[in-house]
Amino acid sequence: MVKISPSVYSCDFSKMGEDIKRLEEAGAEYVHLDVMDGMFVPNLSFGALVISSCRKCTDMVFDAHLMINEPIRYIEDFAKAGADIINVHVEACADLRGTLLAIKNLGLKCGVTVKPATPVSEIESVIDLVDLILIMSVEPGFGGQKFMPMAIDKLKEAKKLIEKEGRDIDLEIDGGINFENVDSVIEAGANVIVAGSAVFNADDMKAAVNRLRGTK
Ligand code: DX5
Ligand code: ZN
Repeated sequence: MVKISPSVYSCDFSKMGEDIKRLEEAGAEYVHLDVMDGMFVPNLSFGALVISSCRKCTDMVFDAHLMINEPIRYIEDFAKAGADIINVHVEACADLRGTLLAIKNLGLKCGVTVKPATPVSEIESVIDLVDLILIMSVEPGFGGQKFMPMAIDKLKEAKKLIEKEGRDIDLEIDGGINFENVDSVIEAGANVIVAGSAVFNADDMKAAVNRLRGTK
């Protein structure tokens, strides 16, 4: 089943709790939380403190995407804040395996993420640990960017890895997803769809969430 993970990076931060409630009412399964440190990516967003406040608003699955260097330093904070899934970047971790194990040892689901220029093969060494693979279809750091079509081949490659592993591993796509390209990413194997601007710019959020589930 396709799950929708709207990114609150595109919400109105003066009404973050209300916007998360609206996502819940719209039928989204996950809330995608983009954490940026101004180092790994050239932008800042929010951290564990904000996530713990959001946790009071909903029981939805919190899908944290950590765009921070050496996320191992903050895993415990994000777990305490109420994250359910923690995604870390291959490029940001000196000890990727140790970082994923730290997430798992806290009882959370762990995801591994690659930037557009990083090959999917970088995930192979940790595929036995992961619950989710996140393919970036824009350079991380900003919402509202244009989808990079090369992500389609990366999804297909990741899907093959998952099939070879033979476990239930989610395949998530993030960046520039809209009503025009969503079918192609689902067809390539994605089953968790991140969307920021497509959901928050829509007049009817529920209709947008439904349309993002794909038409095929
Ligand atoms: C980019 C973030 C994305 C982004 C999604 O660094 O990881 O989650 O905010 O926003 P849209 O869907 O607008 O590209
Ligand atoms: Zn993201």
